Amino acid sequence: MAPTIGVFDSGFGGLTVLRELLPLVRGAHYIYLGDTARLPYGSKSQITIARYAVESARFLVSRGAEHLVIACNTASALAMREISESVAIPVTGVIEPVVCAAEHRHPNADVLVLATSATVQSHAYQVQCAARGLHATEKACPLLVPLVEEGWIDHSVTREVLRIYLQEALSTCSPEAVLLGCTHYPLIAPAIEATLRDLGSQAEVIDSARATAIAIERTIRLSGVASTAEASFQCFVTDSVEKFEQLGSRFLGRPVGGVQLVDLGG
Ligand code: DGL
Repeated sequence: MAPTIGVFDSGFGGLTVLRELLPLVRGAHYIYLGDTARLPYGSKSQITIARYAVESARFLVSRGAEHLVIACNTASALAMREISESVAIPVTGVIEPVVCAAEHRHPNADVLVLATSATVQSHAYQVQCAARGLHATEKACPLLVPLVEEGWIDHSVTREVLRIYLQEALSTCSPEAVLLGCTHYPLIAPAIEATLRDLGSQAEVIDSARATAIAIERTIRLSGVASTAEASFQCFVTDSVEKFEQLGSRFLGRPVGGVQLVDLGG
């Protein structure tokens, strides 16, 4: 029997995790929720982020999720405890997997974490990195989520914004690795890498999507699922279905159809 895995983000960003999960855990049925009406989460207070995240988690459980992937660094940083306490299924966030991947590849290194303002203010990355012997400098990049949500993936404005953020960050540290501490950022990873090189940094870019998918594959141990079975998925959003189907298909690399609109309240 194929397990149902709930994947949640404020918008398109979690599709970067779903994109990695689909070929890795193939026999599963995925239900994805993009809380697009209430994004960005990254500029909101902890109490609001926790409320939105709990409502989203409960929605996915009501639709049959047996395992929950919080494919949002902001919710993982600020609401893991509240989410875990509000549902009776296993919950996996994105921060631990990417920090583990960084430790494995660059033990005791200086790393730079790019994330939303709320994630940076929580210092969740600094704490988890320190526990694994990494020294993290955190840089808030609040303009990147709106640019990705706009589909401005390969756009001169996005490149310029990246140049400014990375120049500011690199004036304070010389990282061996750059951790993408927001699930929206893998969509602009090539631009981040190119900008780093332009600025003279050889830092490796590590994203949370791949690391999280690998961790989930290990954690849920889908032993009873035939690895040849195709994964299936259903997406839900709290705002425009049309926009999500159009941009989502681009981000997921396959058609995103049959998206359903849901109302989680204000
Ligand atoms: N994708 C979310 C994250 O990983 C952030 C999006 C937002 O600010 O809503 O942090």
